[in-house]
Amino acid sequence: MAFTYFFRDMQTLEMIRDYVIPQIRSRRYIHIWDAGCAMGPEPYSLAIVLRENMGMIFRNVKIHATDIDNSNLFGDIIKKGIYPREMVQRIPEPIFSKYFSAADEPEHFIISEEIRKSVEFTRHNLLDMKPIRTGLNLVLCKNVLLHFREEERIEVLKMFYDALDDGFFATEQTQKIPEQMQQYFEPVVANAQLYRKVT
Ligand SMILES: C[S@@+](CC[C@H](N)C(=O)[O-])C[C@H]1O[C@@H](n2cnc3c(N)ncnc32)[C@H](O)[C@@H]1O
Repeated sequence: MAFTYFFRDMQTLEMIRDYVIPQIRSRRYIHIWDAGCAMGPEPYSLAIVLRENMGMIFRNVKIHATDIDNSNLFGDIIKKGIYPREMVQRIPEPIFSKYFSAADEPEHFIISEEIRKSVEFTRHNLLDMKPIRTGLNLVLCKNVLLHFREEERIEVLKMFYDALDDGFFATEQTQKIPEQMQQYFEPVVANAQLYRKVT
């Protein structure tokens, strides 16, 4: 099972805070797809950053978290929002005490209901090439595309392009956009891991 922990990738979260939130905050509904979300720290970390920076507008946010979930466990884990200490210990203290409380199980912590309600998990295979929905404002797909063949990556990126409204795509820094797809996604910053859909 993929091991991830909360606030693992501060750089991506900060880019979303600085470049994506200002562009999407005025939308009536904000739909985000976290594709390949593993057992939840990534979509929940993103939800916390959005809540911290959007205030009450956060109630308009829905994060559609998906994973192929070979273990068939992620749905339950994400719904419960309970994680062991080693997965939450890198969260900055003020954020941790604001959004987590002790769970019944020793050394486990539960995320606040407001954050839990913003993330919805669906089991989904990216290679079926069916988007979770359209009209998206942000697609986050990190450390997943590297497992696919080049032709599959291109097809998945086309699917993301079609599923996005006028929105953003975030991936890991080492993931380069295949040449055929470069006209569809423009880097938002140099040395990009954040792209904007070209319309
Ligand atoms: C290394 S983890 C990355 C987790 C998270 N995105 C991160 O960066 O911390 C890769 C995830 O991709 C998922 N995955 C692999 N193939 C997939 C597919 N075809 N469709 C959806 N998810 C897939 C795996 O189940 C795993 O949870």
